Amino acid sequence: MCGIIGFTGGGNAIHKLLDGLEALEYRGYDSSGVAYFADGALKCVKTKGRLSSLRERFAETDDSAVLSGIGHTRWATHGEVSDRNSHPHGNSRVYGVHNGIVENYTELSAYLSRRGYSFESDTDTERAILLIDCLYQSLKDPVKAMMQASSMIKGSFALGVVFADIPNTVFAMRRDSPLLACPSDEGMFIASDISAVLRYTRRFAIIEEGELAVLTHNSIRFILPDGSAREKEYESVTWDTSAAERGGFPHFMLKEIFEEAEAVSRTISGRIREMHPSFEIPLFEMEIPKRIHIIACGTAMHAGLMGKYAIEKLARIPVNVEIASEFRYRDPILEKGDVVLIISQSGETADTLAALRLAKERSVHTLAIVNVVGSTIAREADSVLYTRAGPEIAVASTKAYSVQVALLYLIAIRLGEASGKLSPCKTEQLCRELENMPEYIEETLNIRERCKAVAERCSAHHSIFFIGRGQDHALCMEAALKLKEISYIHCEAYAAGEMKHGTISLIENGTPVFAFATEEALLDKTVNNIREVTSRGASVTLFVRAGLKLPQGIADEVIELPCVRELFMPLCAVLPAQLIAYYTALTLGCDVDKPRNLAKSVTVE
Ligand code: G6P
Repeated sequence: MCGIIGFTGGGNAIHKLLDGLEALEYRGYDSSGVAYFADGALKCVKTKGRLSSLRERFAETDDSAVLSGIGHTRWATHGEVSDRNSHPHGNSRVYGVHNGIVENYTELSAYLSRRGYSFESDTDTERAILLIDCLYQSLKDPVKAMMQASSMIKGSFALGVVFADIPNTVFAMRRDSPLLACPSDEGMFIASDISAVLRYTRRFAIIEEGELAVLTHNSIRFILPDGSAREKEYESVTWDTSAAERGGFPHFMLKEIFEEAEAVSRTISGRIREMHPSFEIPLFEMEIPKRIHIIACGTAMHAGLMGKYAIEKLARIPVNVEIASEFRYRDPILEKGDVVLIISQSGETADTLAALRLAKERSVHTLAIVNVVGSTIAREADSVLYTRAGPEIAVASTKAYSVQVALLYLIAIRLGEASGKLSPCKTEQLCRELENMPEYIEETLNIRERCKAVAERCSAHHSIFFIGRGQDHALCMEAALKLKEISYIHCEAYAAGEMKHGTISLIENGTPVFAFATEEALLDKTVNNIREVTSRGASVTLFVRAGLKLPQGIADEVIELPCVRELFMPLCAVLPAQLIAYYTALTLGCDVDKPRNLAKSVTVE
């Protein structure tokens, strides 16, 4: 969380920093600020609230001559959301921006107090920056000062730093938080994510841990702890600015929902073709796993639940799905022959990364499903399968879920085939059907107007339930999360058969209940559970797979979903869940793409 940018080059730096921060706002939007060189000194402007407040501060000034600076958009960890706690932090000699958490904040405060420093903010960042200042005062060398600070700071950091007496030079280093160095024709950038600088360049190099990047207007030097320089190859992203723009849609979330079919197609098509005769996914260069542990957070964990259903059904391999923040602290039983499958859109989520590292320490093979190419999880896992969703900007994850689920289906099919549980003919059939899923995803979008009408009705309620059985229950968990995170309505996902064991007491006259029924074998049971809630006054909207026979008048509204193989239904059923969340948030006037209190990339535990 928190977005960092830095630039030094051919002018208009403020403009570039602000535009970059706008692209990074998905990482946090509690406050923002910039520090820059002007009139022979360092200046700092920062303010709480959205980036628009910071832009207003520059509206009246001509800053086109500013050549360099650093910027930050914050997701608060230490200290309330306020101007005072906004980044950059520092003093007239040094300013810095930070993403991560300084764990030995108290010790560093004491160290600095003993040396005469006092603090203006409640942040851990201020301590890190003042430490750099303190070391720079004694060592007189910015590289040595930053390297030494790095060895004294415990925790995670991506840091961009400017020194008043070294004009138009930006220093950067990181540990466990992402940071890129990006050369462009106009000058040199650092950025948390390439999307911040796509207007100027697609080239980037990851600043490695232990390295220091020193940017001047026409060069980027990478320096190792012993002071030697390191040559680096730059990589390029293949997508361009349009992938990170709204492209005529009112919100990124809606755009990304509409991109699901194409993203699923990109993620699976080539791979399905590769599957015959040789599907060269590294997972299959090893033994068939004895057990699979799927570890992830949030929406990615919900995708993992679908993976469990598919892998257990097709390959009969036991799968344990777990939230990364729980897994990492409970001394999990990992045995020879187990595989830890990590799922992460960003590839940077702190708990998920820690879970990956734990599995590696225990010498268990790790496979990561990641969207962001070159991210930390992608680089550290033993093998990686990239989802090909393109950039996902809206904080509420949509297309990333679908591509993760689709890739898990492919893994399940492959494991089924490799373990002899699926015949070649069945494998072929499943692959063909999966390959056709993008068409059905498109078709499902036709129900969007009905989802909008349902959303408008439910937006007046304070409590909403999602019920289903089997994989529909897993889907309900994602549906409820989506609605909660962007509309702020309290909702719960419940296994339909479990409602009567307590939660049904919350059903009142008119309480909205969304029921999902896509599995024929469970239909009658779900219907009974729907009756239990309707007889207590619930207003039920039922999403059902076309072709399933329902009793007359079973729900207030029945919305049919395309008739595809039951196993693949979640790829269609998730769309109404996402659309209802979207339209409800819209009806309530919520900020759809940037919901309160959240951030997209959660790089703190
Ligand atoms: C945050 C995001 C969620 C996401 C979760 C895991 O909470 O808001 O949308 O599912 O992190 O993120 P990851 O990048 O690891 O998939």
